[in-house]
Amino acid sequence: MSAFAELWAQLAPVGRDAESGGYLRYAFGPAELTLRSWFVAQAKARDLVIEEDGNGNIFAWWGDPAAGDAVLTGSHLDSVPHGGAYDGPLGVVSALLAVDELRARGVTPARPIGIAVFAEEEGSRFGLACLGSRLLAGLVDPAAAAALTDREGVTLDTAMRETLGAGPVGARPDLLGRFGCYVELHVEQGRALVDLDRPVAVASAIWPHGRWRLDFTGEANHAGTTLMADRRDPMLTFAATVLAANDEARRLGAHATIGRVQVYPNATNAIPGKVSAWLDARADSPDTMEQVVAGVHLQAQHRALADGTKVTLTAESVSPETEFHTGLRDRLVKLLDDAPVLPTGAGHDAGVLSAFVPTAMLFVRNPTGVSHSPAEHSTDTDCEAGIQALADVLQDLAC
Ligand code: GLV
Ligand code: MN
Ligand code: MN
Repeated sequence: MSAFAELWAQLAPVGRDAESGGYLRYAFGPAELTLRSWFVAQAKARDLVIEEDGNGNIFAWWGDPAAGDAVLTGSHLDSVPHGGAYDGPLGVVSALLAVDELRARGVTPARPIGIAVFAEEEGSRFGLACLGSRLLAGLVDPAAAAALTDREGVTLDTAMRETLGAGPVGARPDLLGRFGCYVELHVEQGRALVDLDRPVAVASAIWPHGRWRLDFTGEANHAGTTLMADRRDPMLTFAATVLAANDEARRLGAHATIGRVQVYPNATNAIPGKVSAWLDARADSPDTMEQVVAGVHLQAQHRALADGTKVTLTAESVSPETEFHTGLRDRLVKLLDDAPVLPTGAGHDAGVLSAFVPTAMLFVRNPTGVSHSPAEHSTDTDCEAGIQALADVLQDLAC
């Protein structure tokens, strides 16, 4: 068994849902906590120094973290509901093994190397993606973040107090100022590398993207006794809006998804009184993304008039377009034998950090091309190629 396969096998059962085969690893929930402890133990076994930032993020340092100008790598350990095994953990496991590889090569870094585990990257528990890195960077007010609730009504503050002992502290410019650069390795979330017949790519950019909540309100009533003509059914407005989102995105060459919905009271024999749905919109420019959202909102309002319902749209988070550091990107491309350069529609902590430090990403081939699903995959051989690539990058940057 290779070192990668051995380490990877340790993670495989943690938070896996036997029925779907996917993972339920929510920030500060039992599975993610198990993975955090596993990471800390792995880091300590390598004599790395653990630092927690008070926002749920963990850093493991090789070298003196106080020296600054650190070369940071890492990713996250949380998943979307029934997500794949690779999105996040591959970057963390690869970072640990890249440190092993550098030591096996006899490398002594001149700059500290850090491995980051960022909290709540997916936003699957508290709704705000990249919450840990946003807090660290001061992009979210810690009091507002502390009040965010999960689907059971548990606040972030409570979740963090119960597991880590304290709620989020917010901006840590002292820590951020010690990062010289960040390179995140991630499973590819499409199938460009299959078509290019290459195991590893370098990222060029992240599309602007965001999340909006749509609340459709009507009148809850009896399914059997309410005349069809008398209904004010928000489910109809919601359903028409899902189709409108699909049409708008296709028309404008963007991506729009409604993948989460809550129905009240959610009973077979009741016309719903309210439907809340979350729109995820992404495009290759902020203008196009805004156009999609505006178009969806307008069509939802028109439909609401016809249905006798109301619709409101609330922006929950918007992430700007990210163009990764071109000097760093070009250096990685050259170092990795003219690796292909790919943009992505997926969000990452690397997108948040890129506003503060030179940042780059490596993508490892995913033969299914599928992500945020149990079908997400990468072969051990490609993961090992990714680890070698990351070790080459860390050596080049830190020595
Ligand atoms: C995170 O994976 C996202 O792009 O939503
Ligand atoms: Mn990810
Ligand atoms: Mn993801």
